[in-house]
Amino acid sequence: MTDKQYILTGPDPDNTLQLPVLEPTVGPDVLDIAKLYASQGVFTYDPGFAATASCESTITYIDGEQGILLYRGYPIEQLAASSSFVEVAYLLLHGELPSAAELQDFDHTIRTHTMLNESLLRFFNGFHHNAHPMAMISGVVGSMSAFYHDTTDIHDPHDRDVFAHRIIAKIPTIAAAAYKHSLGQPFVYPRNQLSYCENLLHMFFSVPSEEFEVSSVAAEALDLLFILHADHEQNCSTSTVRLAGSSGTNPYSAIAAGISALWGPAHGGANEAVINMLERIGSASHIDEYVDRAKDRNDSFRLMGFGHRVYKSYDPRAQIIREMCHRVLEKLGQSNSPLFELALRLEEIALKDEYFVEKNLYPNVDFYSGIIYQALGIPKSMFTVMFAIARCVGWVTHWREMLADPETRIGRPRQLYVGPARREYTDLKQRS
Ligand code: CMC
Repeated sequence: MTDKQYILTGPDPDNTLQLPVLEPTVGPDVLDIAKLYASQGVFTYDPGFAATASCESTITYIDGEQGILLYRGYPIEQLAASSSFVEVAYLLLHGELPSAAELQDFDHTIRTHTMLNESLLRFFNGFHHNAHPMAMISGVVGSMSAFYHDTTDIHDPHDRDVFAHRIIAKIPTIAAAAYKHSLGQPFVYPRNQLSYCENLLHMFFSVPSEEFEVSSVAAEALDLLFILHADHEQNCSTSTVRLAGSSGTNPYSAIAAGISALWGPAHGGANEAVINMLERIGSASHIDEYVDRAKDRNDSFRLMGFGHRVYKSYDPRAQIIREMCHRVLEKLGQSNSPLFELALRLEEIALKDEYFVEKNLYPNVDFYSGIIYQALGIPKSMFTVMFAIARCVGWVTHWREMLADPETRIGRPRQLYVGPARREYTDLKQRS
């Protein structure tokens, strides 16, 4: 809190309210309107929460104008260049980079919580073979709330740690089980001597009948993508986890809610939608037609992987992934990927177009990530699952922060009611 204040004057000029200003470490000041209704009897109206800070947080900072993303103060570019996903998970959860011993200990904990209860694994048999994997993982993660009753006391910091380790360690196993179910292949158990991403690739792509060697190029690429997706402050799915968690619900249910929110094409589902869009565009000669459609107010088509609520400049994650595409595709012998070339051309055309320039619409994290997933052999329907695995770290970190915050109250927004005012019930026979 600072000495700065905003003075709000209502219809009665004698009735003024001094709104305290909360000062962040970096970023715009925040007006504290918590007492507004109690003192003035008015609500604020902000559909989509474009100007509303829902909580105090120390985890992630975004400067959308400058294209800056910091995890616990560390620039995403530095973490992408030098860190690992497991180290970033530790950083997000604990607030500081680990020492070598702390990292080894954390890594060991995650590696040794990878197995699923066998009865949980049998849940997959209840899904049709063509069920979307996001539907399966949201269902199975939600059903984990029926397990672990002895270690899900949300008021116990030790239980909160155990939950964090379990969900981060098991979500790749659940994702792989969903994938194997969709293929009709046997489930592959985790191997704890493998790193986080190696293990995921092993569970996805190995079969009992053949030897399988994990590609180090694929594991490194996945690790980098996971670093970039690990957290993004109060986005739709993270806010969903916080809102669900604020009621004190079982944490697995809160994460399942986050997975459901992530699935939508305006959020994490965009990575799958981008590849569908590029395939539909087909060739560079059709780009103009689709760009025109994206600009047409009467057409619901949007350029998927473009635009962002917060970034009004290039999404720094998209920048890193675009560079990464060149390297990874080359290493995998796919440097002539027609889809990547089409995406680059689409970006070039859109960024020169007045509509996109005026509205500050740039490629976001989902624009290029699918190109890498596809090059690694991961099917389109699993792209958003990959996002969910990485973002699970962010969800858990925010959930823990929320529970530890003494200011946390149940999330309960108000509304601008525009429905009928009170009226009297009419008997069925008297209705015309
Ligand atoms: N193509 C064409 N026009 C767009 C696009 C787009 N991709 N994105 C925004 N616009 C226009 C929109 O029509 C609006 O125009 P107007 O002011 O004339 O009404 C203006 O730009 C502002 O857009 P908005 O929908 O009000 O912005 P928002 O902050 O509510 O939505 C968004 C952000 C990401 C949902 C939106 O840009 C979008 O739908 N993008 C495509 C889907 C996508 O790539 N989503 C992934 C987001 S990043 C990763 C993640 O969050 O998971």
